[in-house]
Amino acid sequence: MKEIMKTTPCRSILIATLGLAFLGSSPLDPQSASTEQKVKSLLAQMTLEEKVGQMTQVTIDVVSAGSDGRQEPHALDMKKLEHAIIDRHLGSLINVGPQAYTLEHWYEVITAIQDVATQKTRLKIPILYGIDAIHGVNYTHGGTLFPQAIALASTWNIDLAKREGEITACEMRASGIPWNFYPVLDIGRQPLWARFWETYGEDVFLATAMGRMYIEGHQGADISAPTKGATCLKHYVGYSFPLNGKDRTPAWMSERTLREYFLPMFEAAVAAGAPTVMVNSSEIDGIPGHANYHLLTEVLKGEMKFNGFVVSDWEDIRRLYTRDRVATSPKDAVRMAVMAGIDMSMVPLDFSFYDLLLECVKDGVVPMSRINDAVSRILTVKYQLGIFENPYPDKTLKAQFAGKEFAQANLDAARECITMTKNDKGLLPLAKTMKVLVTGPTATSLSAMNSGWTITWQGDREDLYPKDKPTVLQAIQKEIGPANVTYVPGTTLSVPIDIPAAVEAAKKADVAVVCLGEGAYCETPGNINDLTLNKAQLDLASAIARTGKPVVVVMLEGRPRVINSIVGDASAILVAMLPGMEGGRALADVLFGDANPSGKLAFTYPRHPSGFTTYDYKPLEFADINSYDPQWAFGFGLSYTTFAYSDLSVSKKSITNDDSVGVSVKVKNTGKVAGKEVVQLYLCDMYGSVSRPNKQIKGFAKVMLQPGEERQVDFVLRQHDLSFIGVANKRIVEPGSFKIMIDKLSTEFVLENGSGKGTN
Ligand code: BGC
Repeated sequence: MKEIMKTTPCRSILIATLGLAFLGSSPLDPQSASTEQKVKSLLAQMTLEEKVGQMTQVTIDVVSAGSDGRQEPHALDMKKLEHAIIDRHLGSLINVGPQAYTLEHWYEVITAIQDVATQKTRLKIPILYGIDAIHGVNYTHGGTLFPQAIALASTWNIDLAKREGEITACEMRASGIPWNFYPVLDIGRQPLWARFWETYGEDVFLATAMGRMYIEGHQGADISAPTKGATCLKHYVGYSFPLNGKDRTPAWMSERTLREYFLPMFEAAVAAGAPTVMVNSSEIDGIPGHANYHLLTEVLKGEMKFNGFVVSDWEDIRRLYTRDRVATSPKDAVRMAVMAGIDMSMVPLDFSFYDLLLECVKDGVVPMSRINDAVSRILTVKYQLGIFENPYPDKTLKAQFAGKEFAQANLDAARECITMTKNDKGLLPLAKTMKVLVTGPTATSLSAMNSGWTITWQGDREDLYPKDKPTVLQAIQKEIGPANVTYVPGTTLSVPIDIPAAVEAAKKADVAVVCLGEGAYCETPGNINDLTLNKAQLDLASAIARTGKPVVVVMLEGRPRVINSIVGDASAILVAMLPGMEGGRALADVLFGDANPSGKLAFTYPRHPSGFTTYDYKPLEFADINSYDPQWAFGFGLSYTTFAYSDLSVSKKSITNDDSVGVSVKVKNTGKVAGKEVVQLYLCDMYGSVSRPNKQIKGFAKVMLQPGEERQVDFVLRQHDLSFIGVANKRIVEPGSFKIMIDKLSTEFVLENGSGKGTN
């Protein structure tokens, strides 16, 4: 193994739990006197038109050359640009044309835009440029593109989330862009959903930890710093739980469920200082996200004290009329959304919002106070980002862009996200002298490792991918020499090509690496009707297994496609999900033992097409035939070494409602190679006035252990970790017994007097 670390016998490390109560104060202080003064004085000089313009955001196509603004190569249309900024007082631009730009092109684009804004307008307010840098700067050619969120969460390594945030912010600023529509804080509890892979998985605690660390890395203590930028939390809130599994379809959930499972990530991220929030494109209980006054104004801006600004999602204000029919005209839709609490409209294809909002104010259906509030929030973020002082790209950052150190961090993340879910008779790691057949539709595809938001929105233009990043096949060839590798395609993603040829090749090989999964997709185009993996791919794996040669299945996919029918036939399985640009290298490293897999699933991998029960199931879900029967459980993942746990203890067997409780456990590497283990602390609240989950993660730590090395890992559970949303929709703590489980060990403690007290 390449992972080397000094041996520290039984070192004790303290792992803090991540309850909200523990979150530090916001690194942003939007109300700092000078910013507040500047905003007030600027606002006082603005006309209504200038204010409404600040609330308007359009996509770059609107100001670009060509009839639809999407001509290639991309060029700005200066006439259109000046119309937008000078005549319509535009506040914000987003996106790219059909594909990513080079750094140099970004310099041109941003410079031209800011020149107009700061030299040709009365008040010289810079444009706020926003981009979806979902797994790195996917819209700047050559950017460092990390594993997608579902894979990153499977590392359970919060330092990697922070590093991704740091690198992404740096490469965004290098491109001249200060605002990122990320992180996605929707929770992944509906695996059919086409955006499942944009989430940090099914668990509230894990997703909260990942999101918070990403923000810390991306924003640092000051978002105006040269390599930092603003995040945008999305999609507030409940978007990820469509009942029918299709993107942008209704969610049905009570306020209690919303507060228990869908809000906590946003609460933590707001507390961590995220200055912008994007709205859920869909609806909950019949109320479209963009018309939800209660969630946007009362909960987000009120209860959560969010003092940044809220941006709509793409075209979703207009859709209150055209799609949802809750508004009776486009103008009514604008009124409804702004009065619900939306501060900026991602219109994004025209200036209809600008025109209609002006009318709304003139007609008196939107008061000036609401406009002033929205514009103050937007200007505050512009000041915080430092773009009033300097709105131009920092060309010196080119030296850092996609540097070796960034690629290494990305490779570390890709290696750690790979989850080994089966390894019969220790087939893996493979000897480098073996003759290997590589087959399957994802073996030769970089897009299958990256999916959407990669160079293009759908991420499916394989021809545009970098030539220096290896596919799985190329990485294996490099690792063991091309002479040891045979490649036969076998199937496309859905149609057999030459399965008989793959079978013949398998007979001549020592082992077959069968790369299966999905192609690239994003948002609604990724909708599916059945979670089962395509039959052609399952047939390929089964046919090869029938040769009797050992089969290693590699899954590259955005959601857990059901592969139950081939799991028994495979000797080893690596679930890599979407490991990003270094995925090929990382997989080869794991296959041949240059890296020890340490990924643990951030979601429950279903055995059946509708096996959607999550690990934190309710008592009812375990009764009779409803039992939790996944292919692989949340938190599961194998290693090339073994770990043994001992000495689980709690600091107090009985606490009161002001106390925290310490939990300690020892973990030892009992195998022959170094490896990382994720110590997972689960808590079960034994009895509650609302049915309590089977168990919930309340602490975790990823530790590196040399063979024979033992460490003590310490956690602290605070009152927030014991709390839940009670019958009255408030967060409460109830007295009673709590069971702690780590690996196969368990212990209990009692909370003597919880008294239903809130914890926030
Ligand atoms: C997506 C958002 C994204 C926005 C801007 C929308 O279609 O839902 O996640 O930020 O487009 O590209």
